[in-house]
Amino acid sequence: MEKNIELKMIDKKQVPDTEPDRQYYYMEIAKEYIRQLSELKGEPLTFHVSTFGCQMNARDSEKLVGILEQIGYVEKDTEDADFVIYNTCTVRENANNKVYGRLGYLNGFQKKNPFMMIGLCGCMMQEPVVVEKIKQSYRFVNLIFGTHNIYKFAELITTAIESSFTGNSHKKGSSMTIDIWKDTDKIVEDLPIERKYTFKSGVNIMFGCNNFCSYCIVPYVRGRERSREAKDIVREIEKLAADGVVEVMLLGQNVNSYGKNLEPQISFAQLLQEVEKIEGIERIRFMTSHPKDLSDELIDVMKHSKKICKHLHLPLQSGSSRILKIMNRRYTKEQYLELVDKIREAVPDISLTTDIIVGFPGETEEDFEETMDVVRKVGYDSAFTFIYSKRTGTPAAAMEDQVPEDVIKQRFDRLLKEVQTIAARKAEVYTGTTQKVLVETVNEQDEHLVTGRLSNNSVVHLPGNADMIGKIVDVRLNECKGFYYIGEKVS
Ligand code: 5AD
Ligand code: SF4
Repeated sequence: MEKNIELKMIDKKQVPDTEPDRQYYYMEIAKEYIRQLSELKGEPLTFHVSTFGCQMNARDSEKLVGILEQIGYVEKDTEDADFVIYNTCTVRENANNKVYGRLGYLNGFQKKNPFMMIGLCGCMMQEPVVVEKIKQSYRFVNLIFGTHNIYKFAELITTAIESSFTGNSHKKGSSMTIDIWKDTDKIVEDLPIERKYTFKSGVNIMFGCNNFCSYCIVPYVRGRERSREAKDIVREIEKLAADGVVEVMLLGQNVNSYGKNLEPQISFAQLLQEVEKIEGIERIRFMTSHPKDLSDELIDVMKHSKKICKHLHLPLQSGSSRILKIMNRRYTKEQYLELVDKIREAVPDISLTTDIIVGFPGETEEDFEETMDVVRKVGYDSAFTFIYSKRTGTPAAAMEDQVPEDVIKQRFDRLLKEVQTIAARKAEVYTGTTQKVLVETVNEQDEHLVTGRLSNNSVVHLPGNADMIGKIVDVRLNECKGFYYIGEKVS
């Protein structure tokens, strides 16, 4: 990108060294740069954040949006914006390939727009080989940062603007700002966040993961487990409630080990009880639960709670105790099934969902049948099924006995069919009953309909209008259409 846009570098006399003050200081500087750039362009500068992957990334993107809006960028739906950020995922290999493909396409926009900057962040950037590849082959990227220093975004964007638009930085490909940390124990509170929805919000309760399941790259890219202080979480949710939020989703790679590194220790179940007390919050969800850490205390809290939703995502990964051991999951098939029984006994109408990996190294037909057996015995309301993907650096990537592609494909199809058949049967159970629905959006296909969710996360469409968004209404579920209901409001 040839640039002939010239900004004058702003003096930074008294940069605070404590957070979040330091970031607020940089936001002011970035704001001034954006003001000048907008003036040069003759219109407000726009941004677009594309999010790949999980809820954790979705929440991180809201933090990026909060700061971008604070410094004067205006959001745009499409990628022909003045600042495009890809918040990447690297859980499976094809996620990486998708990003490389789309970067080429972004470069096309950048060639036409001298104001355009491209940023990359998220899990994929924590992999040194990825950053090397971008440095070599995608020189037009302006800013790269990782998962641990996202709180520093205001500072990083200031540096990226300065190295792209001030001094003698116009030389093509000379302006890449890179800041990746291997790990951190830092949690910075009180930075601006722009929520995607007015009535529901994700809330991080912990970061990182210590489990090292042998196929999984998350512990390497998200670092060691660290929990936020309960008082900070409660304060954030109180603020959200005051702002009209009725549903929160507590987020962590493994919420069941929340609080273990806090002084004094607090359990996830205890945290839930604190959140339950917050006035205005009507629904509490959480994700993700590791079966090995799901306590009796938590089951008891779920049983007695009025606000915790009747939905539990409980990743199985495999139904074979032998494979589970090699996966380092630290539970057996039998223990998993016992846990499911215990949960169902306490909360009979709970909806259970799961994640399953097909084709883990060494998976035999017998192992796969064990997985099918668990699927049938549990009867999941829905399941995310994944083809095993080799992630460099994880123990499983070095294992011999990778399963041939055609065998995996065939098992995957069988599993998917089973999962879908059971899910369709499960979905019907509420037909004819009246249930509480949180209305989330106007239906995309039909503006006379709105779409919402039951406590168990099932989708419901019903006649309505935008005024109903964010409200919990009683809905009679007239008909089940496979994976969603058609209903009508009863007053
Ligand atoms: N291959 C396939 N699926 C994976 N997952 C995590 N790592 C891999 C991998 N290497 C799946 C797991 C996890 C979900 C988020 O992604 O099922 O629960
Ligand atoms: Fe990955 Fe296992 Fe941690 Fe989940 S619990 S993030 S699968 S290592």
